[in-house]
Amino acid sequence: MTPIEVSKSQFPEGFVWGVATSSYQIEGAVDEGGRGPSIWDTFSHTPGAVDNGDTGDVACDHYHRWPEDLDLMVDLGVASYRFSVAWPRVMPDGRSVNQEGLDYYRRLVDGLLERGIHPLMTLYHWDLPQSLDVGDAGGWLSRDLPDRFVDFALVLGKELGDRVPSVTTLNEPWCSAYLGYASGEHAPGRTDNTLAYRAAHHLNLAHGRAAAALRDVLPPSADVSVALNLHQVQAASERPEDLAAAEHVDLIANRMFLDPMFGGGYSDQLRATTAGLTDWSFVRPGDEAEIGVAVDSVGLNFYNPSRVGVGPGAPFPGTHRAFYADIPGPRTVMGWPIVPSGLTDLLIRVQRDIGLPIHVTENGLGAHDAVEDGTVHDQDRIDYLQAHLGAVLAALQQGVDVRGYYVWTLLDNFEWAWGYEKRFGLVRVDLADQRRTLKDSARWYAEVIAKHGL
Ligand code: FCB
Repeated sequence: MTPIEVSKSQFPEGFVWGVATSSYQIEGAVDEGGRGPSIWDTFSHTPGAVDNGDTGDVACDHYHRWPEDLDLMVDLGVASYRFSVAWPRVMPDGRSVNQEGLDYYRRLVDGLLERGIHPLMTLYHWDLPQSLDVGDAGGWLSRDLPDRFVDFALVLGKELGDRVPSVTTLNEPWCSAYLGYASGEHAPGRTDNTLAYRAAHHLNLAHGRAAAALRDVLPPSADVSVALNLHQVQAASERPEDLAAAEHVDLIANRMFLDPMFGGGYSDQLRATTAGLTDWSFVRPGDEAEIGVAVDSVGLNFYNPSRVGVGPGAPFPGTHRAFYADIPGPRTVMGWPIVPSGLTDLLIRVQRDIGLPIHVTENGLGAHDAVEDGTVHDQDRIDYLQAHLGAVLAALQQGVDVRGYYVWTLLDNFEWAWGYEKRFGLVRVDLADQRRTLKDSARWYAEVIAKHGL
């Protein structure tokens, strides 16, 4: 890494300021416009799956209110909007195209371009068409899914590729695989460690095949990427068994994706550390080469580091050999430790291991947000964002090629298994009447953007 001149408070020229959202978390309108059901509709309607029995049925009603929401982005001054496409809106049964769904995303993208906002389109942020998750071997356990995903990617690439310069294949395949199939906290709610590895491999293959297929339909200048929630893993102690647990987690949670995407294939170390967890029989000759197709940049989602050891504690998803250990210090209401330096360390590691331009595609604070005088004085969120932007600056000063930062998230929304109670938005959404109100953090972010610095 060659350190470049970066001031302590100013971001480099061209650094992109953004906000991120995802389709199921904000759109609502689950049975409008020809949309089919997704695995998250099914899961959120399963008793006990989501806090309070909350669902994404209405969410922020963004499907109808998107022009107002895009205007809010203009008020903030953001340069880029990271959104995701609901696969079941575009392909209700996962296979045939619903033009009405495509038209919706075309209007959204045109609305962004008219407002001078750069669209960053994520193809898959977890809302798989329900019809692709049938039976015990359905969903991401199915070897058919990567090709279904390629079809979906090509539909979007052909329809919107002329106007969407940046396309991300998958958001956080770790969550899809390990929370969806091992811990069961996410749709489709399966709870078998072994299944997570098969699902992760099929997600990797879907990414590689779709990235390759997109090249044929996108303009040569397009930026194709994947967004990963890599874990900044720390050992609970210097004891050899805790160090080994941390190494194990780095392999199953990080290198499970990094090895095949950027390292030439699943490493011997990864295969060795998963003995007893999976036999890897789902990997076929040629798969790893397909997964390793070149991408242009990588998205990194970061909230907190993870400390692990041999226990006691909650098991780390997908394994029985590592358990979460406490990280002393402040925590968010999600229970997530607040350690901004973890982001600097992770950015340095990603730069070293991958060497591609990086965008921080998610970072933000979940809180209970009290309403006072009709607004939210969320100094806690401002402090969190400020400290993490400081961590990005520290990485830039050490030569890491960070090109942009997206706050998670624009609007208070459906926070998966936690429902609506824990809020991440820069903008408060009143769930009773859908009224939007800028929080203090939104005004603060607008100032950071205007100053291009802290
Ligand atoms: C990430 C998800 C995003 C949001 C944040 C808080 O794992 O990608 O949808 O839920 O966490």
